Amino acid sequence: MRDAEIGEILVQADELQRRVRALGAEISADYEGRQLLLVCVLKGAVFFLSDLMRQLQIPCEVDFMAVASYGDSTDSSGVVRILKDLDAPIEGRDVLIVEDIVDSGLTLKYLLRNLAARRPASLEVCALLTKPERRKAQIDAKYIGFEIPNRFVIGYGLDHAERHRNLPFVAALTNE
Ligand code: IMP
Ligand code: MG
Repeated sequence: MRDAEIGEILVQADELQRRVRALGAEISADYEGRQLLLVCVLKGAVFFLSDLMRQLQIPCEVDFMAVASYGDSTDSSGVVRILKDLDAPIEGRDVLIVEDIVDSGLTLKYLLRNLAARRPASLEVCALLTKPERRKAQIDAKYIGFEIPNRFVIGYGLDHAERHRNLPFVAALTNE
């Protein structure tokens, strides 16, 4: 029986894979001749990162950051704090932040400001999903996978109270 929390499927597994392949090609072309540092925001973006990174045709490295924004609720507190920082300095590096979803934009706004202060050569954002209706902070994400409606979603890395990250598709959470 299907888990009662898993609602309507918004992005199917094959659509995810097609879009990730296209993003990988686009990023590879944009960064040709350079070496890219992917900064993956734990934990939700791990699944997207590992698929995306395998589509890159350029030399690349990965580092991880963990920030707290949501807890187990479905609404942003607006408070962002670093739980795990990068292992290495990023000064002079071409940095691409890999995020699962831009919701209010508050997390990315904080991350962009924090990482920009470390003087990377370039700093861009690649987010799998965006919910434009929910935006509170203006964010320029250069690469976006899919725009989705204002629903709380689970799967392909996205969780509700740490569950459902392993779903191969993106679905709406029921009973939000
Ligand atoms: P923001 O700061 O409001 O943009 O929220 C960013 C973070 O909140 C994301 O990186 C996710 O971890 C989490 N988040 C936002 N919307 C959802 C959702 O629909 N499902 C699961 N997590 C979400
Ligand atoms: Mg999360």
